[in-house]
Amino acid sequence: MEVFKTIASKQKQVIKLKSGLILFIILLSYKGFSQKGTVINIESAHNAIALQADTGNRLGVIYFGTKLNNPAEYANIPATTKRQGSDYSGIFHSAYTPAGSRNLVEPAIQVTHADGNTSLDLQYVSHNIKKIDNNISLTSVLLKDPVYPFEVTLYYKVYQKEDVVEQWSVIRHKEKGNVMLQKFASANLFFSANQYWLRQYHGDWAREMQPEETRLTPGIKVLDSKLGTRENLYQPPSFMVSFNSPATEDEGKVLLGSVEWSGNFRVDLEVDPLNNLRLIAGMNNFASEYSLKPSEEFTTPAFLYTYSVNGKGLASRNLHDWARQYKILNGKGSRMTLLNNWESTFFDFNEPILSALLKDTKKLGVDVFLLDDGWFGNKYPRNNDNAGLGDWQENRKKLPNGLGYLVKEAQKNGVKFGIWVEPEMVNPKSELYENHRDWVIREPNRTEHLYRNQLVLDLSNPKVQDFVVGIFDTLFIKNPGLAFIKWDCNAVIYNAHSAYQQKQSHLYIDYVRGLYKVMERVRAKYPKVPMMLCSGGGGRVDYGALKYFTEFWVSDNTDPLERIFMQYEYSYFFPSIAHDNHVTDWGKQPIKFRTDVAMMGKLGFDIVVNKLDENDLKFCQQAVVNYKAVSDEVWHGDLYRLLSPRENDLASLMYINKDQSKAVMFNYLVNNRYAAGSLLPIKLKGLRADRKYSVKEINLYPSTKSTLAESAVYSGNYLMTIGFNPNVNARRTSVILEINEDK
Ligand code: DGJ
Repeated sequence: MEVFKTIASKQKQVIKLKSGLILFIILLSYKGFSQKGTVINIESAHNAIALQADTGNRLGVIYFGTKLNNPAEYANIPATTKRQGSDYSGIFHSAYTPAGSRNLVEPAIQVTHADGNTSLDLQYVSHNIKKIDNNISLTSVLLKDPVYPFEVTLYYKVYQKEDVVEQWSVIRHKEKGNVMLQKFASANLFFSANQYWLRQYHGDWAREMQPEETRLTPGIKVLDSKLGTRENLYQPPSFMVSFNSPATEDEGKVLLGSVEWSGNFRVDLEVDPLNNLRLIAGMNNFASEYSLKPSEEFTTPAFLYTYSVNGKGLASRNLHDWARQYKILNGKGSRMTLLNNWESTFFDFNEPILSALLKDTKKLGVDVFLLDDGWFGNKYPRNNDNAGLGDWQENRKKLPNGLGYLVKEAQKNGVKFGIWVEPEMVNPKSELYENHRDWVIREPNRTEHLYRNQLVLDLSNPKVQDFVVGIFDTLFIKNPGLAFIKWDCNAVIYNAHSAYQQKQSHLYIDYVRGLYKVMERVRAKYPKVPMMLCSGGGGRVDYGALKYFTEFWVSDNTDPLERIFMQYEYSYFFPSIAHDNHVTDWGKQPIKFRTDVAMMGKLGFDIVVNKLDENDLKFCQQAVVNYKAVSDEVWHGDLYRLLSPRENDLASLMYINKDQSKAVMFNYLVNNRYAAGSLLPIKLKGLRADRKYSVKEINLYPSTKSTLAESAVYSGNYLMTIGFNPNVNARRTSVILEINEDK
């Protein structure tokens, strides 16, 4: 462990000794001219952030970009503010901008001290670099207010190989009473380029991940959520910023970022008066003033980012490697294919219907049957979305022999059994609501406003946390054979009021903290069972929650044409092993197209198997077998986006395993206009130029023949320079190719 300590008071002594110079130094530092302090290099395999304290000990970001060969040279980098002109306050480039003293721009932190004073200054005290293992290091930097006993530690966790950084802060004080925190960012970054291009996302139910790419202009652009739960519904916490011009797959400087928080988040992107970009990210401070007791620690969630000078493709591959290795539960493992009953039955099922579906699960050849919404509630049976939510006892009419019977039936059929829950929400028409109205987030003096006929339980209350953990305990104790959980979350928080909280402004933050406590406890007891993170479609997709989940539901919109676009954008931030894609009856495309699209992630089905005609059934059964043959590449391989559906008649993507010996390429027609198709060969990527590869079409519909030569062999060099035409056209709207090294 390397330890560096620079004591601010020592520097003060030096300054006193050179008293003749004091005025000069103060003047220079006021203009942000003087960078005298220790340089802190935070380096990954290719990138670096350099921090430096000025003569007033204010810590600034003096560099963000490609790592220098000689670390000693970071000290020569002039502060960006100096390069671009004067910023008056000298702290536009602050590594954690405090509000209320000399700052003139958007703060990272804003507080009211115990005595009512609203000023904050933060000065560098010391830093520490800890090597966690061969790949991970943790740099912490201590900042203190020179007047108040108030301090912040900034953390930078660096994953060398993946060029990923997770950044967060810990705030504490020893004042005589509580300090009110009004803003509390996780990270405050600073970039210097000619132009900044933001790719952000917006959406709604069934319209997740709609991208917009625009140039950032002077002023502040805020990405945020105030929905309390399912933050992704309107705006996901993931985005990218390109520097100088919009990055392409293989060219350009780009940062991919995401806030690891499953509630209200906020990202400020401020182009300052000197044309630098200030990025401040973390939990949203909206309606969330937080009262911090003396000696208590306030830890923010992490903001994670990766930076690439070789375009979005590399950045996302690095992020995928990181996510599989360090974040998503069992990210390097395998996933189970499944049959879900939601769209085939909705709430209308009973034991014989489900027993038949278990047989269909086997017939289809998938691993798990997933029983969705509608299996519970007796006083208020869950026969529609109006009632029963919160009453987690099997409905005796629908399931007279309980879930246990179905779990056993599944075993008899040689498949596994999974179950849907929505543990955070309640229908007013439920016994839970009748008995525990104080557990519900609601304004006692106002009309209740429902979202999908639901309200949200107050997870900031430990009793409610116990209740939710209890739902899982009951399920697993009674049915140890349960093999899969779908955790849904449909409602947003209206009328944000808690009967439990002393201070209402703590609710939004403590809700998510409570949620994580529950997930932590569930995972401690049931560490391995695969869980799908679902939220009325893809309403909650973030790395704060994915730590506890093996996968997420991308969207209720399973129209494959729409999915191609959504999956494409999600794929920048989340590896395909985590994308749950189901074949359903949405859309007008044939079953082959629907299945081919769903195969580009974790494959599932939500169709009426016994209504499939002979060929469709045969195709699906064979597709499950084919999927198993290429799923290793889809789950663990490197993803190359070859053609974007937004710019071409077709989308083309390929996954290649790490030793570059096997790949699978997905091609889909996304335009129905006359003669639309793959008019030119598509250049493959990621192969070894010096190796030979065979290319063959897989997943053909029964009794159709490929128009491609069977198992033609080409060099990697040829496939990457000239390319290969999958012959996509109106008669062949989706084509999957398997590419194998020819030894
Ligand atoms: C919303 C989910 O996204 C659907 O897949 C389904 O589980 C329903 N909820 C059930 O109510």
